[in-house]
Amino acid sequence: MKKILIDCDPGHDDALALMVALAHPEELELLGVTTIGGNQTLSRVTENAKNILYFLAADVPLAAGEEGPLVKSLKTAPEAHGESGMEGPYFEGTDYPLSQATGVEFLYQTIKQTDDKVTLVALGPLTNIALLLKGHPEVTESIEEIVLMGGGLSHGNQTALAEFNIYVDPEAAEIVFQSGLPIVMAGLDVTEKAEITVAEIEQLAGRGRVSRLAYELLSFYNESGRQFGFIDSPLHDLCTIAYLLKPEIFSGVQADIHVITDESPARGLTYGDFRRAAVGPKPVLVLQEVMREEFVALLLTALTRLDAEEANQ
Ligand code: BDR
Ligand code: CA
Repeated sequence: MKKILIDCDPGHDDALALMVALAHPEELELLGVTTIGGNQTLSRVTENAKNILYFLAADVPLAAGEEGPLVKSLKTAPEAHGESGMEGPYFEGTDYPLSQATGVEFLYQTIKQTDDKVTLVALGPLTNIALLLKGHPEVTESIEEIVLMGGGLSHGNQTALAEFNIYVDPEAAEIVFQSGLPIVMAGLDVTEKAEITVAEIEQLAGRGRVSRLAYELLSFYNESGRQFGFIDSPLHDLCTIAYLLKPEIFSGVQADIHVITDESPARGLTYGDFRRAAVGPKPVLVLQEVMREEFVALLLTALTRLDAEEANQ
């Protein structure tokens, strides 16, 4: 049983990651969720997290993190995720409880109070995680690993070279990658191979209530993806939870990852030194391949499970 904390900016793919994590309580104990300004403003992504957790009848603490990045101002992604940040389904609104603590303080307190080591799952810009590591350096001893969606060795999506989560807060990302902690990086190299096809999305429409929610999310997300050249939909953030549940369907290379923070066309680029003679530790597993069908099967099975739980309530 892994104890995990999810830091996210829902976000269609963030929402799916939350769903799949909550569908596997016997493998993943979700200690809490924190939000971070990213796909949309902090208040919007926090509202989205509340809606998802309430919809799934989750009993998981939620805390709102930082409004924006360490140095620059926030860049959101309404083109991909809409004005609400999770456009598509209709939610009535909820009073799902929000912790009094800030996201960073909540992460710190939860890690400190947990006997076992905790795995951090980061699905948005890395601001909260960087502030946690800088403000409370002793927590590194209590962190098992960080599994994050961000970056990419081959290309970007926000710019030609930089992926969105890293581009939004490259200074935070460099702190996290250089923390020395074991990191699993699900970047665009692998996440753009972790696609769900239009036919697979269509299958969800006639199933239960949770599958229907996933269908509504994915229908919007698939449509918005067209402007970026996608026919099928890359489920970026879900790669992190899928890796924790089924690492055997992924493969990658170990590296020491740095982030370009200069004011240049390369701002937000993640890179490693892959020369044969490169020395020094390589704490980051950069995922490169995924067995796509097994990946999608994991999502579909999780949704079926959640549908059945809903039906039994
Ligand atoms: C990442 O950016 C966000 O839009 C997604 O939620 C994902 O975390 C992909 O580049
Ligand atoms: Ca995200």
